[in-house]
Amino acid sequence: MMVTTAISYFKRYKMEVDLHDLPTLVLPSDFQLLPWSEEVLTAHAEVLNDSFHQEIDAVIFPSLSSPNGCVTLMNVVSRRVNFLPGATWLAVGPAGPCGAIQGLHERGGVGAIQNVGVTPAWRGRGVGEALVLQTLHGFRRAGLGRALLEVTARNEGAQRLYRRLGFRRFKTLYKAVPDTHEM
Ligand SMILES: CC(C)(COP(=O)(O)OP(=O)(O)OC[C@H]1O[C@@H](n2cnc3c(N)ncnc32)[C@H](O)[C@@H]1OP(=O)(O)O)[C@@H](O)C(=O)NCCC(=O)NCCS
Repeated sequence: MMVTTAISYFKRYKMEVDLHDLPTLVLPSDFQLLPWSEEVLTAHAEVLNDSFHQEIDAVIFPSLSSPNGCVTLMNVVSRRVNFLPGATWLAVGPAGPCGAIQGLHERGGVGAIQNVGVTPAWRGRGVGEALVLQTLHGFRRAGLGRALLEVTARNEGAQRLYRRLGFRRFKTLYKAVPDTHEM
């Protein structure tokens, strides 16, 4: 039997950006961005698992902490009525898939970034920035005016990346995460 012994609260920021004046995408050489199709669902899930399983967000969102959890997550996200294929991209580098991002169309002409992850070996080369920017252009092409995302407060590297692309914090929230144990 699983029991909850405590609840931890994780500080998160909502960040938003106006989509009217986006910079041009510069993709690092040797990388390409593949558009969404059912055929790349498993690759998205594998990249998410490799990118998140040792990160703080996998504690907050347990589905990001296992291969099966990531497959389930991708099935749920890609079957939502507001899933936006044009804002969902897979980065492929010299050794295969290495980055992924998914986008949703929220009410009020707003795009919502679901997950952005780059596998550890391929970080720091601009792949994450290219994925986010490609998704912002996808939101724009879908006629949206604004985009938002949530980021964990202690994830400062990701926040720097988002700020470089024009995102600004507009809300602080606390995500409750139950500590559950087998008894
Ligand atoms: C955040 C993330 C997507 C950035 O991908 P990336 O391809 O390294 O991004 P870029 O090369 O475009 O930008 C690198 C920035 O990310 C930061 N970063 C975070 N972790 C990094 C790492 N292990 N290696 C290199 N850069 C890292 C860097 O600080 C850098 O910012 P800076 O140049 O201002 O210092 C990637 O680190 C990642 O997948 N992290 C784990 C999953 C996660 O937290 N996703 C964000 C959820 S909101």
